[in-house]
Amino acid sequence: MHQAPRPVTFAMNLNGRPWPDVIGVEMRKLRPMCRRERLLFRIHRRYQTVREIVTVAGLTFPFVRIADPDVVLDQVAAEEDRLEKLSGRRTDGDRLHLPYWAELWDSARGVAELLPDWRGIGAEHVSVLDLGCGMGMAGAVAAKLGFSVLFADLEPDALLFARLNSLAEPARVRTRRLDWRTDCLGERFDLILGADILYERKQWDFLEPFWRLHVKPGGLVILGEPGRQTGDLFQPWIRERGWTLDIRHELISTRPTPIRIFQLRESNPATPKTRTMIGGDFS
Ligand SMILES: C[S@@+](CC[C@H](N)C(=O)[O-])C[C@H]1O[C@@H](n2cnc3c(N)ncnc32)[C@H](O)[C@@H]1O
Repeated sequence: MHQAPRPVTFAMNLNGRPWPDVIGVEMRKLRPMCRRERLLFRIHRRYQTVREIVTVAGLTFPFVRIADPDVVLDQVAAEEDRLEKLSGRRTDGDRLHLPYWAELWDSARGVAELLPDWRGIGAEHVSVLDLGCGMGMAGAVAAKLGFSVLFADLEPDALLFARLNSLAEPARVRTRRLDWRTDCLGERFDLILGADILYERKQWDFLEPFWRLHVKPGGLVILGEPGRQTGDLFQPWIRERGWTLDIRHELISTRPTPIRIFQLRESNPATPKTRTMIGGDFS
C-alpha cells in the first residue's frame, strides 16, 4: 500500500529563497509572522537591505536601509524603459519618481542631532512630522526620544522602512503616504522636520504653504541642508515670505563639513480664523 504523499509546503526566508529548515513543515504550523518579519518580508521582495548599528543624538540603535541605492535607481530606469516601449512615450520629468528615498542622506543625521533640545518641554507632548521622511532616520530618533511622530513621504516603500526603523515605539508612531504639493493632513505639529527636501527650487512653492498649514502657532520647521547652492538661494526667499530664519551648523560623523540647519518660525502666525484649508478650517 502506498503511503499518502506528504503535503508539499514551503516558506520563503527573508531574501525570497526557500527556508531550508522549514521545507516540508505545513505552513499552518509556523508561528504567525510578527510585524518586523512581515515588514522585512515585504521589503525583501524588492530590495536588498543592510542593518547597521548607528549612534545619533546620543542614542545607539539598529537602522535598516537599502544596501545599494544605485540598484534601486537602475530598477526605476528599467521600469521607465519598459513603459516607454509599451506606450511609445517617455514619462515627463515632473511625474518621474526618482528614488531619492532609497538613500540615507546626511541631513537626516544633522536634523536628528538637534532633537534632544526639545525633550525638556515634556517629550510626550511634542508632536513631530517627518516630512519627506525617506527611510525615517530623523523621525526614528524623534520617536526614541519620546515624541509622537508622523512619518510622511510620497513613496510607499519609504514608509515600510520608516515603520521598520521605529518598530520599538509603536504607540508613538504613525505613517502616511502624502504629496506635499496637493495633500493636507488636517492636523498641526510642534515640529516639522525636513531632511534634504529643499534640493529642487520648484518644490518650495508647495512646501512653504504646506508648512504654514501644518505647523502649530509657535512651532518650528527644522530643515537639514547639506550646503547646496539651492540652500543659499532659499534663505532670502523664505525670509521674504514672513518667516524668521535661524541658521545653525551641525557637525556629524559621516562627513567632514557640517550640515546646515534652517530653523523657521512664522514671524506673524495667522490667527486661527484666517487659517483655512480645502475642505474646512482645522485650527
Ligand atoms: C533627498 S530625500 C530625503 C529623505 C530623508 N529625509 C533623508 O534625509 O534621508 C527626499 C525625500 O522627499 C520625498 N518627496 C519628494 N517629493 C515629495 C512630495 N511631493 N511629497 C512628499 N514627499 C516627497 C522623497 O520621496 C524622498 O524620500
